Amino acid sequence: MVEPKSYSKHNDLQKTDNVFVLDNFFRLVKWSGDDEIILDVGVGDGKFAVEKLVPLFPKKFRKLVGCDVSEKMVMFAKDNYKHPRIEFVHLDISCDEIPVDFVSGFNHVFSFYTLHWVFKQRQAFANMFKMLKPGGDMLLSFLANNPIYEVYNNMSENIKWKAYTKKEYICPYHGSKEPEKELEKILVETGLISHVCRVEKRTYYFPNLDILKKSIIAVNPIIQRLPTEEVPNYVDDFMNQIRKLSSVTIEMVNNNEEGVRIQYQLLVVFASKPLEKS
Ligand SMILES: C[S@@+](CC[C@H](N)C(=O)[O-])C[C@H]1O[C@@H](n2cnc3c(N)ncnc32)[C@H](O)[C@@H]1O
Repeated sequence: MVEPKSYSKHNDLQKTDNVFVLDNFFRLVKWSGDDEIILDVGVGDGKFAVEKLVPLFPKKFRKLVGCDVSEKMVMFAKDNYKHPRIEFVHLDISCDEIPVDFVSGFNHVFSFYTLHWVFKQRQAFANMFKMLKPGGDMLLSFLANNPIYEVYNNMSENIKWKAYTKKEYICPYHGSKEPEKELEKILVETGLISHVCRVEKRTYYFPNLDILKKSIIAVNPIIQRLPTEEVPNYVDDFMNQIRKLSSVTIEMVNNNEEGVRIQYQLLVVFASKPLEKS
């Protein structure tokens, strides 16, 4: 779905939000020893995990497992972000059965900019719950409402693009008035203790339309399904749709370029698995 090479170059928005989450919520993670095993769900190209997340771990952590549903991403991460204590593995977080050696295998679960891709939310949370050791915790962030999904919705009504779109491409919380309440219900029903489950209102500024275009192309799952010759038309239609959105502001900047300001919602979760009763 996400192109590794393109994503690794055009991910400033995701990086900015991930750093915001680490700066504000990482302190909640309860480190209990030197020998801990950590999971990063949707590790992607591996760059953020290696460069920003791992440096925050206690020096003697045992291992980080970075999992991703995309074989291409896993290969890219293995080739470009080798690290003696990181394993990159192929895993769909919403699969029906997780590998047995992952059950109660992790002290901490992290996930950044991934869970909005996951249609089967309950299954994903049930799996993350199973993978945590009792007393373990998870810090997650992912999209809720985002104007880009309006564009996906509008374009799915266009006869030219209809056949290439799927409802699974739209974030499960897009359109929700209280996404944090819907999500908290899932957390609690899964058996997790919810410490933080909130919406952060975010704004991101793209200095010009070309940067926005590249960022969109890097993560748009429809583009990879289009005949190559249709891609420029699709991208043009997409950019025209963006101009029509009320939550997007386009303004002329000095050098005759158009800067684009987008407002959207980021969900942030910090939750833990209860300790087993003795
Ligand atoms: C936007 S990238 C985020 C990568 C990295 N976490 C970051 O913040 O830079 C989202 C990643 O989630 C992965 N992904 C999507 N659905 C997934 C699933 N069901 N299980 C595991 N990974 C998934 C995609 O393949 C992609 O690599």
